[in-house]
Amino acid sequence: MDKPKVVLGVSGGIAAYKACELLRRLTESGHDVRVVPTASALNFVGEATWAALSGNPAGTEVWETVHEVPHVRIGQSADLVVVAPATADMLAKAAHGLADDLLTNTLLTARCPVVFAPAMHTEMWEHPATQENVATLRRRGAVVIEPAVGRLTGKDTGKGRLPDPEEIFEVCRHVLGRSGPERAGTGPDLAGRRVVVSAGGTREPLDPVRFLGNRSSGKQGYALARAAVARGARVTLIAANTALPDPAGADVVRVGTALQLREAVLAAVADADAVVMAAAVADFRPAAYAEGKIKKKDGEEPAPITLVRNPDVLAEVSARRAREGQVVVGFAAETDEVLANGRSKLKRKGCDLLVVNEVGEQKTFGSEENEAVILASDGTETPVPHGPKEALADVIWDHVAARLTAPPAR
Ligand code: CTP
Repeated sequence: MDKPKVVLGVSGGIAAYKACELLRRLTESGHDVRVVPTASALNFVGEATWAALSGNPAGTEVWETVHEVPHVRIGQSADLVVVAPATADMLAKAAHGLADDLLTNTLLTARCPVVFAPAMHTEMWEHPATQENVATLRRRGAVVIEPAVGRLTGKDTGKGRLPDPEEIFEVCRHVLGRSGPERAGTGPDLAGRRVVVSAGGTREPLDPVRFLGNRSSGKQGYALARAAVARGARVTLIAANTALPDPAGADVVRVGTALQLREAVLAAVADADAVVMAAAVADFRPAAYAEGKIKKKDGEEPAPITLVRNPDVLAEVSARRAREGQVVVGFAAETDEVLANGRSKLKRKGCDLLVVNEVGEQKTFGSEENEAVILASDGTETPVPHGPKEALADVIWDHVAARLTAPPAR
């Protein structure tokens, strides 16, 4: 089988150096990569670097090797075009269809999925001109990854950083994986949608050093967030005690306890089209929190721990439905009577879909794989065979997408 052909467009921003890492990940994972830098990108990283790392020519202009008609051929034969970093200028050119160099020509001739990973100063990103260009590109089917928040060039910080190259690679991999002939024309089907995903496990503190927690790694929730970004959604990821890298493009809100998670979820769902509660939320928390470390005392029995109920966030979100047509998805981790428990839980929680999986010490937690049954409130049940958590994530979004009938949240 031919290697998938990826065009890596690089425009002139300081983050161009990070694209070298993206290029490495793409080539090492079996892609044939053609780098198409802009002339300004070469001010940051030279042509020799792109050519050597990709094993392909890395010219910027349409006037080189004209007999091969590169301005048409490169775009036409690509399976994916990813532009990283995409500057404000590049987004403007792409939105308006300018074609004054090899990259902009390639963008006009490509019929494959296109991913832009913008990077620029916050003011440039927030400028209405840039925002309108981004909206135009998204409307036309491109995936434009939201920039990350953090240190920018110089001393300033804010939104505008290029996400981690490894995470941009994940978006590319996901988009490519969904662009085969059987999915041709589906495009980013969550474009214009806002989704909220909770992930990880809450920790309920007993004292400054101890907590009651659970074994959730957060991997399934992160896979859901990544998949939603690759399908064009704006994603808020509410992460409880995870140690995973931020998915590119997701707005990550970190929480610790069930009460903090509830607050973050309720704030985020106000304008969401869909909510997926993948987090393992503690049902109980210690009734009292000791300000100082609880000490053992010789000859004394330990004091019993009294627990109180935490609010059920999923049931609350389902009952409230912040927006008409909002799709609410829950998870159920069961050890026995998996389906029977799942069916009654679906009713009790009032959600549209419940993803039920069997858990145990050796199963699911921390693993890269999962197996589940998706129960729907209309009575349908879809078994999802054992496979990567990202595959389950996609099946869940397929079910969500099919239920998103209301116009997008705004
Ligand atoms: N959940 C929640 N708030 C809680 C507990 C759970 O939002 N306080 C959500 C989880 O995110 C998950 C779903 O509810 O999507 C199922 O959680 P689970 O703990 O399995 O359900 P419980 O209602 O706690 O049922 P039981 O303890 O009887 O298994």
